[in-house]
Amino acid sequence: MAPSVQQIPEAVPTVAPGKVVVPVHEKATYKRQIDVEGGTTTAKYPAYLPTWNPAQIYPPLEPYTHVEHGLAADPKFPDLLAEGTKVTKLTPTIGSEVTGVQLSKLSPAGKDQLALLVAQRKVVAFRNQDFADLPLQEALDFGGYFGRHHIHPTSGSPDGFPELHIVHRYGPPGSSEFDSFLANRNSSASWHSDVTYEAQPPGTTFLYLLDGPPDGGDTLFANQAEAYNRLSEPLKERLHGLKAVHSGFEQAQFGKERSGLVRREPVKNEHPIVRTHPITGEKALFINRGFTRSIVGLKKEESDALLNFLYDHISRGIDWQARVKWAPGTVVVWDNRVTVHSATLDWSTGERRHLARIQPQAEAPYETPYVKKE
Ligand SMILES: [Fe+2]
Repeated sequence: MAPSVQQIPEAVPTVAPGKVVVPVHEKATYKRQIDVEGGTTTAKYPAYLPTWNPAQIYPPLEPYTHVEHGLAADPKFPDLLAEGTKVTKLTPTIGSEVTGVQLSKLSPAGKDQLALLVAQRKVVAFRNQDFADLPLQEALDFGGYFGRHHIHPTSGSPDGFPELHIVHRYGPPGSSEFDSFLANRNSSASWHSDVTYEAQPPGTTFLYLLDGPPDGGDTLFANQAEAYNRLSEPLKERLHGLKAVHSGFEQAQFGKERSGLVRREPVKNEHPIVRTHPITGEKALFINRGFTRSIVGLKKEESDALLNFLYDHISRGIDWQARVKWAPGTVVVWDNRVTVHSATLDWSTGERRHLARIQPQAEAPYETPYVKKE
């Protein structure tokens, strides 16, 4: 069983704005995965093991002006997809796989084109990357080109790098989180976009593999623009102008119970149900079962019925979904504005699944008027 979280008794580091540098203790007084494992680890990237330091307390997020670099990109992708790169579509409407590009070596023009490609394809898996081997700050510096780093309110992060969101599951069969997660659920399907309760949720988002099982633990993505396109014109028209409430309160409560760490007071925000993408101009559904709670102005039964219809529509949409298999060196980049995703907990062999996420924030979601499809 994980040790309980203790408060740090002595002086705590200065609080934001900017990055909080947390001292790395020989023996920390807060929960660290390395201690959970008895001080040694089999993790391939120990520096990325999560810690939950309750001294990391931040004020509410301030608005910021997002610069959308994809708007400046050359649509022929000369700096991203140079000769020798191979691009394979995973499905017609969502997902591509790319080999022959080293993301960490991209020029600013190449990064602009990356934002455009990801906006168009929704999710792109880049193979054989050196991202996980970079110094952690270099990986963050790369991601910071795309927007202001979002610091997750509750997730574990490497000591001193709260901007890195760590996804980590580890434990022998019968003793792990898997069993508790699946004890009351039939499947691990859990469609969501990341942290949509924020006023400016992330856009171009990076997730890279550190450790994973040889089979299983895939991530599924659904194209929310295509999910919108498939609706009837009267329903599309009705959805325009509606807003939904997205809440971070439940996640904060869960984090508090699990690790004691809540870096910022939880927030709720209202976002349009149909969102327009700033680069492509596409309209996309912007609701997800993870964080959307109700439709503003509708009565509870009406709101639940409409949201549940839309959630079912998205999760049934096998013709606008892609499944990404992880491999050592894989960096997956998705546009969090026009996708939902779900992890799968389908392996029971006890291997560690360990990934790092960089989630630069984007613009506040906005919508443009309904246009009838001819
Ligand atoms: Fe997620």
